[in-house]
Amino acid sequence: MATPKTAKLELEGKVYELPIIEGTEGEKAIDITKLRAETNYITLDSGYMNTGACTSAVTFLDGEKGVLRYRGIPIEELCASSTFLEVSFLLIYGHLPTTEEFSKFREKIRYHSLIHEDLKNYFNNYPGQAHPMAILSSMVCSLSAYYPELIKADQTPDERDGTITRMLSKVRVLAAFAYKRSVGQAFVYPRNDLMYMANFLNMMFAVPAEPYEIDPVIVKAMDLLFILHADHEQNCSTSTVRMVGSSKANLFASISAGICALWGPLHGGANQEVVEMLEMIQKDGGGYKKYIDKAKDKNDNFRLMGFGHRVYKNFDPRAKIIKKACDDVLNKLGIHDPILEIAKGLEEEALKDSYFVERKLYPNVDFYSGIIYRAIGIPTNMFTVMFALGRLPGWIGQWKEMIEDKNMKICRPRQIYTGEVNRKYVPIEKRGS
Ligand code: CMC
Repeated sequence: MATPKTAKLELEGKVYELPIIEGTEGEKAIDITKLRAETNYITLDSGYMNTGACTSAVTFLDGEKGVLRYRGIPIEELCASSTFLEVSFLLIYGHLPTTEEFSKFREKIRYHSLIHEDLKNYFNNYPGQAHPMAILSSMVCSLSAYYPELIKADQTPDERDGTITRMLSKVRVLAAFAYKRSVGQAFVYPRNDLMYMANFLNMMFAVPAEPYEIDPVIVKAMDLLFILHADHEQNCSTSTVRMVGSSKANLFASISAGICALWGPLHGGANQEVVEMLEMIQKDGGGYKKYIDKAKDKNDNFRLMGFGHRVYKNFDPRAKIIKKACDDVLNKLGIHDPILEIAKGLEEEALKDSYFVERKLYPNVDFYSGIIYRAIGIPTNMFTVMFALGRLPGWIGQWKEMIEDKNMKICRPRQIYTGEVNRKYVPIEKRGS
């Protein structure tokens, strides 16, 4: 049946016609932009389960079919043939770069890698046990203090590009410095003779005492994980970046807010929680059935971390790729990690269980990613920082799309008020004890 042009809504005996919007993949929406002005009603949708906050040409996701495409290109093809930097260009600028475009992009990222020397002092003032996500989010916002020319609300396209490439280059340095701070080692400066990912790994793992050899297996594994994290349409952190950016706050402030949103255990923080959960099961003797029962028990707050997704109700295509990569990477690195066996057993058991089947709960991107990070030598509390670095081009691409939209409006949801009505102020002395 052809899609109708309007939807009819009957309210208090009057019929209103609401326009229908159709996306390029046939996704349909009822446009309620004028609903309140015409009817005095709003829609209520807590957790935005059904609310489209924008139209976007960046990422397509079909949760029923397990499809994920960046700018129309399937994630599987990008993982097989592309690099994180190329995917970053694709997400931000909308097309795969030509050789010339790519070398200019790479050169700008290479050139802008240093951070102001003063910023190093900030790191030293964080307590040693500070979570690296706390450091990263505040350091990204602090960057703006050093680049006043990059925080203008109305930038020219060239100025915007300058901000974007600096952001991509410097956040990587901040992440590596946050790690060095957490392990009490000297900062390692970026080396511009190295490519993006190798440079990052060198800043993370090189120590003055001995040379650090960059393993191409690790570079490839990191590239894969970052590509898989790179965008996921209007998720919690991306919506936060858009929300903050819609006030015309600068990109540093918007990304810093996105990092905070990502930190939560229901979102990007789940990768840390998954490995901690698997370690806990291992310490407890490796029997995962008890934990499946705990996850099913409504009187127990425990959830199977790395399981379930708001949008994917069949399988998460990212998890499928990561699960395979997990075996490959661990084999190539010659690592046998018992928690991988626990993860596989847990997955197998959960996927047979009616609780998980009925609720369509499958492993998500975070279920196996932490096991690869662990094999690479990245400590658990840095996992979400890795997610943030991977998600950076997606946040930037979505922010850029919004900021360049001439019809952009500040994001400002409404509410249905449920509090007290029109009470009188009572002075404190008359309130009783
Ligand atoms: N373990 C046990 N039960 C679960 C789980 C889980 N991991 N996830 C959902 N459920 C149950 C939930 O209790 C509810 O049951 P009932 O209908 O009986 O009340 C039902 O499944 C629906 O759950 P929900 O919380 O209403 O679903 P949601 O769409 O609001 O939440 C989610 C999605 C990802 C927050 C949730 O599945 C979850 O908390 N998962 C664990 C955390 C996690 O792995 N997060 C990473 C998500 S992927 C990375 C990213 O992009 O953010």
